[in-house]
Amino acid sequence: MIKEASKHLLFGGMDVVELAERYGTPLYVTDESKLRANLRSYKEAFETTDADIYYAVKANGNLALLKILASEGAGADVFSAGELHLTKLAGIPVERILFNGNSKSTEELREAVESGVKVSVDSLDELRALSAVAEEQGKDVEIAIRVNPDVSPEVHPKIATGLKQSKFGIPFYDVTSACEEAKKLPYILLAGLHCHIGSQILDVSVFSEATKKMMDLVEILSEKGIALKFVDLGGGLGIGYRREEKEIAPTPKDLAAAILPVFDKKRHELGINLKLVLEPGRSIVGSTTVLLSRVNAVKRAYKNFVAIDAGFNLLIRPVMYDAYHEVVVANKINERASGLYTIVGPVCESGDIIAKDRKLPKVERGDLVSILDVGAYGFSMSSQYNGRPRCAEVLVCDGKADLIRSRESIEDLIRNQRIPARLK
Ligand code: LLP
Repeated sequence: MIKEASKHLLFGGMDVVELAERYGTPLYVTDESKLRANLRSYKEAFETTDADIYYAVKANGNLALLKILASEGAGADVFSAGELHLTKLAGIPVERILFNGNSKSTEELREAVESGVKVSVDSLDELRALSAVAEEQGKDVEIAIRVNPDVSPEVHPKIATGLKQSKFGIPFYDVTSACEEAKKLPYILLAGLHCHIGSQILDVSVFSEATKKMMDLVEILSEKGIALKFVDLGGGLGIGYRREEKEIAPTPKDLAAAILPVFDKKRHELGINLKLVLEPGRSIVGSTTVLLSRVNAVKRAYKNFVAIDAGFNLLIRPVMYDAYHEVVVANKINERASGLYTIVGPVCESGDIIAKDRKLPKVERGDLVSILDVGAYGFSMSSQYNGRPRCAEVLVCDGKADLIRSRESIEDLIRNQRIPARLK
């Protein structure tokens, strides 16, 4: 037994082979202590400025995780009424929630105002609609203007969000007039500026550039007599996905070193009391989670294909962004690599490739693979494509495991479908 266990991957102090037997595969497994540690490292890095950390719920919206983050004092960046609902359920105080988004419906604006959360306004159209909604409810709403700062981080084009050609935010040169308009509108309380420049950013110098641009705006506004309460610099800090190659990823401390000198200098020069807000998603949850998946077949063809029971229905990142996730054979953790394998999913598309040409020990049907660092944009981007119910999620802590999302059933695939009477 002990001998067996030494061959198995341990995660959060638990044998993942046992977890796979107990809960079945595919299975997302999250380590609670890692999650708490990741949030705390942000708090520590930004302690001197007492920054607010608004966790980006889109990265992983599991309620248990949100409750843990709420207990650690996190706020939330939400991008829809659904995410707003989740954060409120998890007990995140509304004063620490920012409703983001570039396309909010009137219903969503109403919910935001009713709930009393802050709103990041993405366009003048939205600004006017929000004012009308707030007027209808006779309730003030605090807003931030989402700025498009026109900076280019070196990331996959699909996850760069602050380029001048991006759909997000009000162009840098139009922000002052948008703020002036906001100041005149009834029920609108202009409180902040907001930007988010991209995701999986490994070179933090671009954060200094964005901070500089945002603080220049703060100065221009302050000269016009417009005082702000906060600047929200978004999320985007990258993580080290390439563990085998020991990829060096920046830490929250490195992020603080890029942002704080610029932020503090301008704040002191202007003599203003400005709060810093950050919205990390990936760097809070990415490293907390593995995806366990069973090998259904190994085939020697053009490549050595390993067909597992999780594909882009459960982890779309490799297909969508050519993202790299480390893969290990969880029941042969102490065996040497003996060949090159390409790990593919069960989805009926040639592009359903999770990992290409990986050096692994001899893989056989029945083995268990573990895909690492899938806590961010893993389950939250999953689908039921190909008629596959979504998998379960488990939380591990102090050698115990709890189910935090049940596996969907075939029933769940048809739950909302209706057959017109004439077809019955
Ligand atoms: N704030 C805003 C306004 C955002 O749009 C995002 C992410 C974040 C914060 C959090 O960024 P993070 O710290 O997680 O980088 N699905 C893609 C990532 C999309 C990011 C979208 N916005 C992926 O799997 O790489």
